[in-house]
Amino acid sequence: MTQPALSPRFPNAFAEAVHAGLSKHPQKELPSMYLYDEVGSALFEVITALPEYGVTRAEERVLKDHATDIVAAMPGDIKVAELGSGSGRKTRRILEALCKKQPTAYHPIEISRTALQLCRRELSDIERVSIVGHERDYLAGLSEVSSKRNEGERLLVLFLGSTIGNFARLAATRFLRSIRGMLQPGDALLLGTDLIKPLPTLIAAYDDPIGVTAAFNLNMLARINRELGGEFPLDAFEHVARFNPDARSIEMHLRAKRALSVRVRGADLRAEFREGETIWTESSHKYAAEEVAPIAADAGFDCTHQWRDDEWQFAESLLVAR
Ligand code: TRP
Repeated sequence: MTQPALSPRFPNAFAEAVHAGLSKHPQKELPSMYLYDEVGSALFEVITALPEYGVTRAEERVLKDHATDIVAAMPGDIKVAELGSGSGRKTRRILEALCKKQPTAYHPIEISRTALQLCRRELSDIERVSIVGHERDYLAGLSEVSSKRNEGERLLVLFLGSTIGNFARLAATRFLRSIRGMLQPGDALLLGTDLIKPLPTLIAAYDDPIGVTAAFNLNMLARINRELGGEFPLDAFEHVARFNPDARSIEMHLRAKRALSVRVRGADLRAEFREGETIWTESSHKYAAEEVAPIAADAGFDCTHQWRDDEWQFAESLLVAR
């Protein structure tokens, strides 16, 4: 006779993460990857259009002005992988420049199926491009793409939009080292980093006056209510963006405006909040342009080129695997 399967405590990874994060002391937290459901991804697209959030436009300018230089810096037979493709809009410039020289295979790696579909729709009209999507986490996807390559092919890995800034500094170096571990000498990583800038500009980028960023952050709690039967009263929480001078990062939190107790049935949890207590949802670390090369060296790369946007202080760096 077969045993009935034990019913697992949590229905899915989101429920497990919510349980673990809201049980943490002294700082409750929720992993930022869960900000990007369908609603969150749509709100983030709006953030990239806000006048206060200059990151995306800065990178678009750099890629528009320098796609040809970037491609020229990597001669030979190139295959492209991208960690977190998003909508694919920025990638177009690179792919168009490459496809002028050679038919190009593009491998977006994304945990979000919606984002993969969007980027396929956005980019498939480029002449001589072939798109092979991977619905995997970054490192699993990259290892697959890197191991299945043709003789003599070099890999160009795109890690754009300053997502590296969402890692703590030490974790960022560790992550670059993991990427390096999957590459061969001569492969390259194109890395976007948002640079340190005056505090009011930084804060406004993460706390805009019409509240889109607040809605984006609060959607995390709304998502818990939708998907896990959570009972968060959304009006009892507010979005907070603050600068942490030691980490040189902007921290995003959700702050309880009053003391309250919240049940989340699907995560098997009751969470107690003091007035003013926060849930940490994301940090965005800012770099000095000169910091990139030593970090890259530490991870086994040579920073051979750097292109900057001076209007918004953003750097795109080409790191070649030693
Ligand atoms: N990777 C983006 C960044 O750090 C994500 C982001 C933008 C974000 N605005 C946000 C994350 C607000 C949480 C809250 O720039």
